[in-house]
Amino acid sequence: MPMSLQELQNKPSVLRGDKVTKIFGYGTNKNTAVNEVNFNFRESEVVSIVGESGSGKTTLAKMVLGLIGVTEGNIFFRDTLRDISSHKKKKEYWKGIQAVFQDPFSAFNMFNRIDTLLLDCINLMGGKKLPKEEKVRLMTDACSFVNLKYEELTNKYPFELSGGQMQRLMIARIFLLKPKILIADEPTSMVDACSRATILDMLLKLRDEVNMTIIFITHDIGLAYYVSDTVYIMEHGQFVETGTAEDVILNPQAEYTKRLISDVPKIHEEWDLSTVAGL
Ligand SMILES: Nc1ncnc2c1ncn2[C@@H]1O[C@H](COP(=O)(O)OP(=O)(O)OP(=O)(O)O)[C@@H](O)[C@H]1O
Ligand SMILES: [Mg+2]
Repeated sequence: MPMSLQELQNKPSVLRGDKVTKIFGYGTNKNTAVNEVNFNFRESEVVSIVGESGSGKTTLAKMVLGLIGVTEGNIFFRDTLRDISSHKKKKEYWKGIQAVFQDPFSAFNMFNRIDTLLLDCINLMGGKKLPKEEKVRLMTDACSFVNLKYEELTNKYPFELSGGQMQRLMIARIFLLKPKILIADEPTSMVDACSRATILDMLLKLRDEVNMTIIFITHDIGLAYYVSDTVYIMEHGQFVETGTAEDVILNPQAEYTKRLISDVPKIHEEWDLSTVAGL
């Protein structure tokens, strides 16, 4: 069940943006990829950011993650102005915010074995000094959460996994890191419909377990309707419409939203729980 506006507004803010802007290039090459966007994401809220290719979704995600600089505007993490001015502060920030990306192949260092990738998460969370058996137990739990077998992965490298397995490994990392915020930039585009539903289900389960805020970035307004509490519609670097999933998708106001929705005929039937997710 999605949360009502009232319920959401009673939850603490985890990430707020005030006129966040990204300008690439200069002079005639100047491109305002994200243009003064405002947002306020709350604890355990599931948000979808929907927009066509090139509308600025990934650019916004990268700014929020601190992977690229913000040209103008401010980002507040848990009501405090974000400070990622040093490597140490950035590492601290990344304990609270993590991402799973469109392309799982780019997410991992292919030369690190899978146990190393998972151990890094445990170390980042302060588990460096735990006894070996405890670390193995944590890694085994994380793998079984995503239906992977730790024993079968232990000496493997990421490139030895299938796309779907790699996606699940990304989620196993999130399970270990338990960030306050997870950004999922189309995590499901590479996998078949069945894995897609499983992955969504895993992420939503994590949300319930650790009150994680999830930000889905997608072209797919049907997905947004199905999974989110709130929807932000992005066009040319701006949010043209924001509100609960119900309001935005069943009663769109902006022309752009209406157009996106008209591309998905029969949204209700198509996103019927039983047919889509097989849950
Ligand atoms: N590093 C960069 N340098 C210059 N321009 C960039 C850079 N990254 C993105 N852009 C530009 O910013 C705009 C927004 O791109 P962005 O990748 O954020 O779109 P998107 O909404 O994620 O699209 P998609 O749905 O295709 O992933 C585009 O015009 C793109 O060309
Ligand atoms: Mg993108």
